[in-house]
Amino acid sequence: MQTLESRLHDGVSRVRHHWKGTRLMDGLEPGVEGTAALLDLARLYRAHRLEIGRLRLLAGRAVAGLFFDPSLRTHTSMEVATGRLGAHFVYLQGGEGTWKMEFEDGVVMNGAAQEHVREAAPVLSSYADVLAVRAFPKGEVEDETVIRAFAAHAGSPLMNLESAFAHPCQGLADQLTMSDLGGGNFRGRKVCLTWAPHPRPLPQAVPLSFVRSAILGGADLHVAMPEGFDLHEEEMARAASFCHDTGAKLTTTRDPDAACDGALAVYAKGWRANDRANHEALAASLSHWTVDAKRMKNANAFLHCLPVRRNVIVTDEVLDGPKSRVIPQAANREPVQAAVLLSWLL
Ligand code: CP
Repeated sequence: MQTLESRLHDGVSRVRHHWKGTRLMDGLEPGVEGTAALLDLARLYRAHRLEIGRLRLLAGRAVAGLFFDPSLRTHTSMEVATGRLGAHFVYLQGGEGTWKMEFEDGVVMNGAAQEHVREAAPVLSSYADVLAVRAFPKGEVEDETVIRAFAAHAGSPLMNLESAFAHPCQGLADQLTMSDLGGGNFRGRKVCLTWAPHPRPLPQAVPLSFVRSAILGGADLHVAMPEGFDLHEEEMARAASFCHDTGAKLTTTRDPDAACDGALAVYAKGWRANDRANHEALAASLSHWTVDAKRMKNANAFLHCLPVRRNVIVTDEVLDGPKSRVIPQAANREPVQAAVLLSWLL
């Protein structure tokens, strides 16, 4: 009989056969087959994680996690996955516990920033076998400056732990969760992403990652967004270009009830208004987009990446009810991240 270690090596070989890259930036990099292989490896890890913990497969390796923004799930699940695999995790708080960093080229650094990413990224890569970075967009500017600068200057594999337009590890966990709900896959199944109210103009990283994941998994995806809250056109088109390969379908609608009706999973998320300056007022006028039991009546399961604002995004009744799968969804972060680390380092 094949040992667990040999099954893990086979799983890693399968991922590497489809995905040679060592950058996880927007989640589309592993492609359809690579993502399927990663999810199989994550399932194997999830089923045997205590036994895997004793194997110490990545002993001697190190992962540096640089967080420019807060985290509960991402930090903990990365550190736990790394430790369970026998590697060392270094937590770095960007700009607070580390030097304030500059990302633009050619600037005269006589302001607050003490260190340039051109030195910081290769230095961290000289210690750590994987660099993992979380950097939300700041203020009005929504771009991928920080994660792209690390991609340009890091010598080690790089994992995006959430940037302006992508949260690929969340996307992988969401895909695993929807597969669980669908009994192994969700190909051809109706799934819904619905905008929901949030007082702050949040970036689109999570909803765009969910769209990518649903399409990679071949879903019949219905995205409900109010007028004035459209998702990033180019990112949506790029994700939709995978529909041809996976058989996924993408429908956008202004009607959240129709989008949720009969869905295997309803994924709620707030994101900013296209008119960012007026987000608060616009979102406040859309309280009927809060996901409640009536909207969930004919839907199978409720998902959210967490943290979630109770009775703003979703009612207590739904979140505490039997359809809520947010805890297993969050738990799926550890196995998918472990699968990526194994694929790069085993
Ligand atoms: N969903 C998620 O990424 O949670 P954290 O922001 O707590 O890491």
